[in-house]
Amino acid sequence: MTEFNGLGEVSGKRVLVRSDLNVPLDGTRITDDGRIRASVPTIKALADAGARVIVTAHLGRPKGEPDPAYSLAPVAARLGELLGTPVAFATDTVGASAQETVAALEDGEVALLENVRFNAGETSKDDAERGAFADQLAGLAGADGAFVSDGFGVVHRKQASVYDVAQRLPHAMGALVAAEIDVLRRLTVAPERPYVVVLGGSKVSDKLGVIDNLLDKADKLLIGGGMVFTFLHADGLE
Ligand code: 3PG
Repeated sequence: MTEFNGLGEVSGKRVLVRSDLNVPLDGTRITDDGRIRASVPTIKALADAGARVIVTAHLGRPKGEPDPAYSLAPVAARLGELLGTPVAFATDTVGASAQETVAALEDGEVALLENVRFNAGETSKDDAERGAFADQLAGLAGADGAFVSDGFGVVHRKQASVYDVAQRLPHAMGALVAAEIDVLRRLTVAPERPYVVVLGGSKVSDKLGVIDNLLDKADKLLIGGGMVFTFLHADGLE
């Protein structure tokens, strides 16, 4: 038996894996492949267990239609290098290319679908529109398929490939989500002291809640990156 995290036997089955492969690009050159590396253990475990692995992911924030600047093609190539086996790349999300690519998968092989945000249903606020896209994604996994949620960086989004597919297929979390939850638990329940948190990045709106939550837990909170300007502005600076 080759089981995965409570999903039962996955050998020969199609398993949809939502990863966070939202890496920085300079043109088509990946400048930091950390997120791809972090996604490998779950994908590899499923492939080694004989599953036909269908990876879904987003890149950037395209406007619900194909945009070559946000193609996951370079990511498929890098993922294949890291896995040590080619990754079949579908040039659409649920169209003819996705269906052919998935149909051609053998046990233990991996495919990556094009950026799910090329489909407006992915990020739609309309439940029915999101649901219709999720139906198509789940359909690629087939009647005995399953879903593994492993895109920790996107797991808070109510989006079709993250949230709605989990309502349609037997599901489990992947190794990355499990590891991140362990770390979060350690850092929010009983942290070792002194406890200094360093926060950066640009999406300050998403991080205000995190900062609020950490204020009474951390000894020091250091803020850098693009979002530091929001705080400087709040302090009355230009
Ligand atoms: C990220 O880079 O923070 C995640 O991939 C989520 O991307 P998003 O903020 O565009 O949903």
